Amino acid sequence: METLFIGANLIFLPEVDSTNSYAIELLKNVNLPEGSVIHTANQTSGRGQRGNVWNTRPGSNLTVSVVLKPSFLDLKDQFYLYQIAALGCYDVMTEILDHSQFDIKIKWPNDILVDGKKIAGILIENVVNHNHMHWSVMGIGLNVRQGEFDDKIHATSIQILTRKEHDLADVLKLLCSRLEKYYMLLRNGKRETISENYIKHFFGLNKWLDFEIGNQVEKLLVKGVSRNGLLLLEDSSGKEREFDMKEIKWRLR
Ligand code: BTN
Repeated sequence: METLFIGANLIFLPEVDSTNSYAIELLKNVNLPEGSVIHTANQTSGRGQRGNVWNTRPGSNLTVSVVLKPSFLDLKDQFYLYQIAALGCYDVMTEILDHSQFDIKIKWPNDILVDGKKIAGILIENVVNHNHMHWSVMGIGLNVRQGEFDDKIHATSIQILTRKEHDLADVLKLLCSRLEKYYMLLRNGKRETISENYIKHFFGLNKWLDFEIGNQVEKLLVKGVSRNGLLLLEDSSGKEREFDMKEIKWRLR
């Protein structure tokens, strides 16, 4: 499970507000080696998508940021980073959980769900230079040892699902290795392979589901994702529509 560069420079912080914020600040002053990983035992102000907070029990779960330098990627192709982050987490889940027993899915853009409950969330923040990616900070929160969650948040952990204790350091090593696998595919131009894999595990594909658009709820058919990462849906008149993260919310319960 050795990696070439992701996780080779591992920065552990006993406590920090947010590993993503810390990484972004550090990058202003330090030229970190690509693949540096910042992780903490206690993230006090974790940030999630759409300005949400990411709360996690101290010492129980992975809260990490992986620093990448995808300067080979145009800004318009940044969705590949979302796909590889999701696929890396997806592979970790399939390798730890008994695949035949659990339904593991990637919910657009990149939440990982097991049997409909969230086990990992990803927040990617990019530093851009002249329409090219300069740095990418891939923040991942992955629930490993937390024994219970508030019913309202509909989440789960590896421990709840396997009824076994798992070592955070082992899960982190596996995660680094699987992220590196997909990042290398991206670096080597294997974009189709990445997108094919991503869509294979796409939550809700070809199903009619409820979505919140503005203050309306609409039932729409899930068709996949556009090249630039927009959610593709079809309405009852057969018209295809595209949405970005700010425009639409899944309404699952
Ligand atoms: C989401 O599902 O809303 C994304 C959650 C991302 C949480 C991770 S934990 C490590 C990194 N640091 C942060 O502040 N957020 C991300």
